[in-house]
Amino acid sequence: MNILHVCANPKPTEESVSKQLAAAFFGKIIELMPNVELVNVDLYDEKPPYYTYDLYKRAWYPILKENHKPTKAEEASINYASQQADKFNSADVLVLTMPMWNFTVPAIMKAWMDQVLCPGLTFNISPEEGIKPLHKVRSIVLLVASGGVYKEEDERDALTRQVRAAFGFIGISDIEIVWADGQNPLFNMDHEQRKEIALEAAAEIAEDIAELEAVAAE
Ligand SMILES: Cc1cc2nc3c(=O)[nH]c(=O)nc-3n(C[C@H](O)[C@H](O)[C@H](O)COP(=O)(O)O)c2cc1C
Repeated sequence: MNILHVCANPKPTEESVSKQLAAAFFGKIIELMPNVELVNVDLYDEKPPYYTYDLYKRAWYPILKENHKPTKAEEASINYASQQADKFNSADVLVLTMPMWNFTVPAIMKAWMDQVLCPGLTFNISPEEGIKPLHKVRSIVLLVASGGVYKEEDERDALTRQVRAAFGFIGISDIEIVWADGQNPLFNMDHEQRKEIALEAAAEIAEDIAELEAVAAE
């Protein structure tokens, strides 16, 4: 099994609750599936560029216009997206680790999504066939931390909606969410307990994935 881990958090693990969730998840996965193939993308090391007009033309003109010959600049503009799409398309499971910032995903994660969710790379699109995935990602594990407390379907939450909608668009609807909310110690006396519960949930999801994989291998 191949797992792609994309992390959008500039903090070291000891200061980051979402990275601690990732440590709990991957610690369990490696314990139970020592042969798992892990690819890590730390977005603060592999920074995605912002979307450009050249990339728009390179990605969309082959679909929208006949006989467009891409310029050298247009060709070069798709390099980051292509490299990330290769990693994406090799994965069976995608793990996304991030904090909630301003009620949604960090901008660097959104920039990565704008690159990788690219026609011709991770999906095809046509009037005849609609959206056709080019990847084989079957599920996403979303590991997130927030300062505030959020009830289910909280209307302030644009983060889980963003992830569900964007990846649902390319055919990935199986999304497991581990959300350590209430991590602001100024307002939540129980932030440590909340973190502990989320750490356990992250390890349990890893166990479920390993169990499914073992059953599939039988
Ligand atoms: C720039 C910034 C924006 C934030 N915006 C929100 C927010 O909209 N909602 C919220 O609940 N917490 C917000 N927080 C708090 C973080 O989500 C919280 O500290 C969380 O623990 C961060 O995850 P981490 O510990 O993995 O870094 C924000 C923090 C920062 C630095």
